[in-house]
Amino acid sequence: MDKDLELIESAKQARERASVPYSNFKVGAAVQTKSGKIFTGCNVESASYGLTVCAERVAIWKAVSEGETEFEQIAVVADTEELTPPCGACRQIIWEFCGDVPVTFANLKDKTETVQMKELLPRAFDTKFLK
Ligand code: THU
Repeated sequence: MDKDLELIESAKQARERASVPYSNFKVGAAVQTKSGKIFTGCNVESASYGLTVCAERVAIWKAVSEGETEFEQIAVVADTEELTPPCGACRQIIWEFCGDVPVTFANLKDKTETVQMKELLPRAFDTKFLK
């Protein structure tokens, strides 16, 4: 299967596992490492709403916690007509851990769009300012 489609398909499958009793808004994400491995995530909500974690961050934390440091691209899937992009907090984390990667948004009707991370988060704050 084409790598982009495989990433979207992985994000779609992860979306099915979303734990969303409060919003009922399921999101799936899949991040691909430079070595070709795919790590997936879904959003997991908390009764203390602010502790909810988005799908993108779950996928990235899973990869980082398994020792991955180099990423190629990320895909985000939600069931919306207008494609759902990553929230502001996730943009920050994608930038910090994945850099200027292509970010693919997709819905369940196979509508897709790919945008570079730099376009989603111009003039990002990151570690270089802390030196
Ligand atoms: N959500 C994500 O998982 N990713 C995003 O980029 C946007 C928002 C989740 C968080 C929450 O569980 C639900 O969508 C509604 O905001």
